[in-house]
Amino acid sequence: MLLLTKPFILLFMAEEQKAKSSDGGRTSERVSGRQERGYAMVALDSPSHPVNVGHTLRAAMCFDTRLVILSNATSSINLRRLPTDPGRTWRHTPVLSVESVFESLPYDCTPVAIELTDDAEDLVDFQHPERACYIFGPEKGSLSQETLNRCDAVLKIPVTLPLNLAATVNVVLYDRMLKMRRPELRPGGNNPRTTR
Ligand SMILES: C[S@@+](CC[C@H](N)C(=O)[O-])C[C@H]1O[C@@H](n2cnc3c(N)ncnc32)[C@H](O)[C@@H]1O
Repeated sequence: MLLLTKPFILLFMAEEQKAKSSDGGRTSERVSGRQERGYAMVALDSPSHPVNVGHTLRAAMCFDTRLVILSNATSSINLRRLPTDPGRTWRHTPVLSVESVFESLPYDCTPVAIELTDDAEDLVDFQHPERACYIFGPEKGSLSQETLNRCDAVLKIPVTLPLNLAATVNVVLYDRMLKMRRPELRPGGNNPRTTR
């Protein structure tokens, strides 16, 4: 009679699982329990108004954004005292304060500029990258040409005048959420297992 000890049984089960996997066990065959693939991040370049930063943080929490980057923010902005962020988002969503957005981009995350330029793509027709960092310009200016050049795409919301900064953040994140629910428009492609 074959006596199987506990460590031996565990080893046997692991080997069996490896054999079932088509690539010799290098990746798991299990389907992730996450509802969505990829993630969205928001970066504000040189924000100066606490009201906009608060609304942006609130939007980040509402739309389940994974990270917020504040680059070169006005020093008087105090995250603990933002009347437009009653949920104190920074307690739940990481907020980085940095000098340059690009220094803080996670691995294989696609930078997408949001700016009202003549040759920007229309947000309406845009298929979002699976892992995206949406970069927004300052209230009293625009994203620099250098920032626009470093982004994979430049998007505009087709309106007659520039929107308020925080309103723009909400529109872009809503657009991503909407398309996430449409298989033919889903970020990263229509196959839920496809990566960009
Ligand atoms: C209030 S706007 C800046 C003012 C604007 N540059 C002007 O000419 O009056 C602040 C930021 O919001 C974003 N934004 C506002 N309206 C936009 C639109 N229609 N499409 C894309 N981005 C927009 C951009 O990131 C912009 O840098």
